[in-house]
Amino acid sequence: MTTLKFDIDTHGIAVLSIDVPERPMNVLTPELTSELKDAVERIATDASIKGAIITSGKPGSFVAGADLKDLVTAFDKGISAAEGAKFSYELSMLFRRIETCGKPFAAAINGLALGGGLELCLACHYRVLLDAPKVVVGLPEVQVGLLPGAGGTQRLPRLIGIMAALPLLLQGKQIKPAEALKLGIVHALGTAESVLSQAREWLLGSPSAEQPWDNKKFKIPGGAGPMAAHAPQSFVAGNALTSASTHGNYPAPPAIMSCVYEGTQVPMDVGLRIESKYFGKLLSGPVARNLIRTMFVNKGAADKLAMRPKNVEKSKVQKLGVLGAGMMGAGIAHVSAKAGIEVVLLDATQEQVDKSKAGIAALQARDLKKGRTAQDKIDEILNRITATDDYAKLEGCDLIVEAVFEKREIKADVTRKAEAVIPESAVFGSNTSTLPITGLAQASKRPKQFIGIHFFSPVEKMPLVEIIVGEQTSEETIAKTLDYVGQLKKTPIVVRDFPGFFTSRVFGTFTQEGLRMLLDGVQPALIENAAKLAGFPVGPLAVSDEVTLTLQQSIFKQQDADGLADKYRGLIGRPVVDKMVDELKRPGKRFGAGFYEYPEGGQKHLWAGLKEAFPPAKQQPDVEEVKQRLLTIMALETARCFEEGVVSNPIDADIGSILGIGFPPWTGGTLSYIDTLGPKAFVEQCQKLATQHGPRFEPSEWLVARAKAGELFYAPQA
Ligand code: NAI
Repeated sequence: MTTLKFDIDTHGIAVLSIDVPERPMNVLTPELTSELKDAVERIATDASIKGAIITSGKPGSFVAGADLKDLVTAFDKGISAAEGAKFSYELSMLFRRIETCGKPFAAAINGLALGGGLELCLACHYRVLLDAPKVVVGLPEVQVGLLPGAGGTQRLPRLIGIMAALPLLLQGKQIKPAEALKLGIVHALGTAESVLSQAREWLLGSPSAEQPWDNKKFKIPGGAGPMAAHAPQSFVAGNALTSASTHGNYPAPPAIMSCVYEGTQVPMDVGLRIESKYFGKLLSGPVARNLIRTMFVNKGAADKLAMRPKNVEKSKVQKLGVLGAGMMGAGIAHVSAKAGIEVVLLDATQEQVDKSKAGIAALQARDLKKGRTAQDKIDEILNRITATDDYAKLEGCDLIVEAVFEKREIKADVTRKAEAVIPESAVFGSNTSTLPITGLAQASKRPKQFIGIHFFSPVEKMPLVEIIVGEQTSEETIAKTLDYVGQLKKTPIVVRDFPGFFTSRVFGTFTQEGLRMLLDGVQPALIENAAKLAGFPVGPLAVSDEVTLTLQQSIFKQQDADGLADKYRGLIGRPVVDKMVDELKRPGKRFGAGFYEYPEGGQKHLWAGLKEAFPPAKQQPDVEEVKQRLLTIMALETARCFEEGVVSNPIDADIGSILGIGFPPWTGGTLSYIDTLGPKAFVEQCQKLATQHGPRFEPSEWLVARAKAGELFYAPQA
């Protein structure tokens, strides 16, 4: 056996130790399930074996779940719903055999147990879990568009009741050992040294090898079906909540609801069949593929810095200089100090930088109040930040991140002043959101060490960092910058230098399309709601208020000055911006008035005056068309970025569009959206919208040719 160690002790207890080779954590590979099957049969049929313990040969982790790198290929291989159901049912039958073979099984869960890993434990008659800070258990399948397909939707509600099980299944929440014990998911907690002996002790006590639900008298805790006391809350309100949060874009949560509702009213064996049927539908659909590919496989690889130039030695930032202690600079200093980096935070005046550091201290104090940190940790973080207006303090910094005003002259000035002090080897990064890096690098004595490091606001929350490679930026500089992003535990994408780079450029098409709709007479509420129904976190009008309309106006002016207005197609919403700022004096949230009203202490709501300012048309478009306009314009702009080489692989585009600018995750990202629709259908959709709304929707010749050839952005995985 290659994945499983099989020992029998002097008491006739079999100990199965799972250790999948070449994997940092155990996952349910086909080899493991096949070997587990043989082992279970041996235990079931060998009279000298009294019972069995299942544990992991990798300390700290039991089994992390299914092998998602394998499942991600299912859709591309054209798997049918029936084949998907069979895949789930085979594993389910193996686990069912464990609980019905007549021999008692104990799970000595010596580390994290997720998804299929926890499902395996749930099929055992006794579970003892390691109580350690990093250990979690849960069924997170929903987060990758699937459901627990090896009995999880059936055993968990039977074990802890439907009301307690539903949130765990629907949110995929991972819980700590104490909560698992309290909920009754495990029978006992133990230490790394004791879990195995606790399991053995239980087995030596001649336990029953019957699961509670296989007893004729079994009743689901709290009841099941439409007459259960909890049904109005769990099923009726639960279904409403599920559709309110998924808007029909995510098929997994309603499928989980169905599995629980239908499956808990029938015997276990029938319930497992029902679960497999729903699992098959999800595995054979595109949403699971999209979520697994972008949010798990590719994001995981990006987090491990997969695109880092290999020939450069690993580096670590010890001392960081942040120029400009405004909203972004403060955030960058804060997350860097939290990651253990010494930070010099510099602004034009000591007063400004002191204010900024006080802001960081206030955020930390808020975390303390919520019990998320401790005072000694706060002291450490704040002690790492030197707040100053003195450039001499930048001496010894190995990286600078510049976040002063978005003005070329000011950026050039601080670049020169910092470079006069920092070591020759230091990397200089600009957090500019729009100004081309190659141009900014002209102010630098070392343009090879000059790069764009574009954070998103709020820096503490947003996981993405867009790295922009200038014409002269060296491989070594890219590698060092990626290492810094790795230190912060954020997700990097790497893009080429171009005004607006990738994310700001594509994001601009979203806001502009929304503003254009206002001009076209679409009801503001329809615009905002359609965006949310499509899966965007906020509508284009709300987000325009957030970033301020004055900022959009200054970007337009910059585009005019650079002769880029046409290229950007951004002008389509400009009349709205000009009217809101110059005429109506409603420049955005920061100023207390924009497309929305911001009453003090009350809920924001759309400004009633929009009706007069932008009179709605008599005939309103269908909500589907509004959704399509927003999704299509962003996907099309991404395709243009790909064509122009701004992004060189679909992975960066997809991760960047979801993590940076709120493109709906169910799509897998802007380019996965095109692939999922099919290149031909997408081009036809663009052409239809171009006829209705203007040439900005016209696909390029390059895209049309690709569509004709049926070329996908991602080659199908074998
Ligand atoms: P901000 O206006 O909040 O902060 C800028 C800071 O720079 C101010 O504290 C100002 O006193 C300081 N500063 C100006 N001139 C200086 C000088 N000569 N020497 C030292 N300090 C100086 O601006 P924010 O929003 O933090 O933006 C900073 C940069 O980050 C800009 O380039 C912006 O485009 C970019 N950015 C902004 C994002 C946002 O959402 N606000 C997102 C991503 C990038």
